[in-house]
Amino acid sequence: MKDHRVREARRYELGEPATRAVHAGQYPSEHNGAVAVPIYQAATFERPVVLDGGWDYSRIANPTRAALEECLAALEGGRFGSAFASGMAATATTVLALCRAGDHVIIPDNTYGGTWDLFSRITSRWGLEYTVVDMTDPAAVAAAMRPRTSLVWAETPSNPSLRITDIAAIADVAHRDGARLVVDNTFASPVLQQPLALGADAVMHSTTKYLSGHSDVTGGAIITDDDEVAEAIKFHSGALGTMAQPFDSWLVLRGVKTLPIRMRQVCESAMRIAEFLEGHPRVARVHYPGLPGHPGHDVAKRQMRDFGGVVSFEVDGTADDAAAVCARTRLFTLAVSLGSVESLIQNPGQMTHCTTTGSPVTVPESLVRLSVGLEDGAGLVSDLADALRPY
Ligand SMILES: Cc1ncc(COP(=O)(O)O)c(C=O)c1O
Repeated sequence: MKDHRVREARRYELGEPATRAVHAGQYPSEHNGAVAVPIYQAATFERPVVLDGGWDYSRIANPTRAALEECLAALEGGRFGSAFASGMAATATTVLALCRAGDHVIIPDNTYGGTWDLFSRITSRWGLEYTVVDMTDPAAVAAAMRPRTSLVWAETPSNPSLRITDIAAIADVAHRDGARLVVDNTFASPVLQQPLALGADAVMHSTTKYLSGHSDVTGGAIITDDDEVAEAIKFHSGALGTMAQPFDSWLVLRGVKTLPIRMRQVCESAMRIAEFLEGHPRVARVHYPGLPGHPGHDVAKRQMRDFGGVVSFEVDGTADDAAAVCARTRLFTLAVSLGSVESLIQNPGQMTHCTTTGSPVTVPESLVRLSVGLEDGAGLVSDLADALRPY
């Protein structure tokens, strides 16, 4: 077995994302030589003496979760990671950790429905004010800043319309007035985009999506390079009990190992699908940042390595027409969620974003959202071609 010094050396030689995904946080010498980090399905740990500084209680820290947290931190280029029971658990814990009653937050007008629910229906009841802005416009964010703005929450590419936020520009706006920027990086994954390097104070993930990649677990994560943010989030995660369980952490860690190679494939197929949809007579509009005509294409090209595996399009018709297309595909499964090996299709207005109806969070009713999986790309295009045939 390699000794401690060799293991320590390996920590600093991990290099590229593909190597980090397989090795970061996963050191066999810490686990009796087990090459795959074991599932420490234990609530409590025996201590040799009262205060030995070792593992204590799994709500506070657990070795399987710690391995995942170190791996995710290495992928995002931060020093601290925290893994949660879901993306929403990560978001809610972060908001509670970084904001106080009377503070003000700025949120995007295109965002995951659950994020909208959290700010509009939960934290607002506890005295956290919010303003909804077009996050693609740094001037709009600057105009919305108030003396008590403590947090700007961005999501890029956004769910479900794939809008692109210029992370560096929004970080400047937030920091100028003493606020923090947290970026929901779920759609890009750390393989395509690293918000910390662009100035964000923390990065959030629904690890339910690309990081785990197999539609078999819910999870979330926060990664930061800021000691104060890390400390506050760790304390709140432990105190609230919103952390990830050992088996769930293991599933996410297992999925992360293939993340870079999965992202390469889904980006390739998504581009092909976006190009097909762009020329289709029954499609009014395609939203994919890889298309040169997308309003965020230039920013996406600058801050992302590729454009991701989610494509949205507006059917030329009503919500019912969009629902009919969703029901007619055979390879694309009609289901919410995204980022997995299998391709999924859904109608956000009636599914993931149904609670945003009538709100400032804008979701066209005829929008169809695709999560492109690992099936053969040509097969996925012909599935959509069949589903879009006039009926
Ligand atoms: C962009 C984005 N952020 C956050 C979440 C919430 O994650 P979870 O469902 O793991 O709580 C989702 C879920 O779909 C999402 O798409």
